[in-house]
Amino acid sequence: MADLLIGQTLFYSGNPMTGGIDAARHSSRGAVLIENGRITAVGEADTLRNAHPQARQHDYGNALISAGFIDAHVHYPQTAMIASWGLRLIDWLNTYTFPEEMRFSDPAYAAEIAGRYFDLTLANGTTTVCSYSTIHPESVDAFLGAAQVRGLRAYAGKTCMDRNAPEGLCDTPQSAYDDSKRLIEKWHGVDRISYVITPRFSPTSTEDQLAALGALWGEYPDCLMQTHLSEQTDEVAWVKSLFPTARDYLDTYERHGLLGKGGLYGHAIYLEPREIDRMKEVDPSLIHCPTSNTFIGSGLFDMDGLTKSGLRVGLATDTGGGSSFSMLRTMAAAYEVAQLRGRPLHPSELWWLATQGSARALHADDRIGNLAPGMEADIIVIDLASTPAIAQRSSRASDIWEALFPTIMMGDDRATRAVWVAGRQIALA
Ligand code: GUN
Ligand code: ZN
Repeated sequence: MADLLIGQTLFYSGNPMTGGIDAARHSSRGAVLIENGRITAVGEADTLRNAHPQARQHDYGNALISAGFIDAHVHYPQTAMIASWGLRLIDWLNTYTFPEEMRFSDPAYAAEIAGRYFDLTLANGTTTVCSYSTIHPESVDAFLGAAQVRGLRAYAGKTCMDRNAPEGLCDTPQSAYDDSKRLIEKWHGVDRISYVITPRFSPTSTEDQLAALGALWGEYPDCLMQTHLSEQTDEVAWVKSLFPTARDYLDTYERHGLLGKGGLYGHAIYLEPREIDRMKEVDPSLIHCPTSNTFIGSGLFDMDGLTKSGLRVGLATDTGGGSSFSMLRTMAAAYEVAQLRGRPLHPSELWWLATQGSARALHADDRIGNLAPGMEADIIVIDLASTPAIAQRSSRASDIWEALFPTIMMGDDRATRAVWVAGRQIALA
């Protein structure tokens, strides 16, 4: 049985960050046809209704039909300690994060938080995330199992650390390699699940552990690899002292086989010219985490400069260093951070970053992140008048961008009218 979703539609024929806003396609009365979990047609409502009279119709009126949001860097185990007050990165990790991550040795606790995490993110219209776990393999099973039963395309890996963390949160080079390999064999490519090799960041891995994970990536080159890069000045200085012979922070990864096109580097605020030049050659993904970068006091990501350099950028909440589960709030923060650097991002660019941009960062833009025939039907319906403040502002709009921008800046989970995952509408918690 086919489903026909009718409303305003927004999708992309190219990258608006480099190709201008004409890359966005909007219809004020469009429709999306779904069959067997995939999108089979996108067009005008009247045309598709006439061509597919047997399809179940879901008329969402003026609401906006879009690809679901894709959050390219999160820590699901930090769900319960989001919004922890007053500290910068290293103290924040030691004081709040590591004690909470210790609790994930208990599979029941991991399952409880994974379920709560997906309830929160789906309510916010996020249909795919790429998550860190903890050092416990059970924390990966809990998360990917919860994604699997919900039918989600999901990415995650066991976080590896063998120094500068509490004893209960340290593995070894060998156990990190063995556990990660076992989890790859168990999960990678099963249903819609992808395993991501996950050294937390250079300060919490010995050179032996980085080398072991680099070797593992060499054995499984179609896995993505995620880590953190140049988030805070104190952290960059610490990396310099821990790796005195490295050319820079990126080199601590590169020298151990952890720089590649499938690499996802979170934050990437304090990059040196060599690091940018090297990344231009390799084409990895930089993941912008704007609510985290302001909340933990990290700094202002150079969206304009890095995208003009041709670098691949995805957008992410970085929950719980980030202060929100919402990609709307995250787009708003990306807008504010870019404003502080003199570059007002257009609503079409912000929406692209939260959908196709993040899909492209995960090398999944042929499957998710856009409305187009053949794409997997992960679709959200967004109410563009979800609160009185937003409704009064959007009622004056003269085009889709003026109608959408108030929701980007002021919207939250109340804007999520419906969520479809792999062609099935899901109940929101
Ligand atoms: N760097 C290393 N670990 C983390 C983490 O959990 N959150 C953030 N924001 N940065 C990190
Ligand atoms: Zn992170």
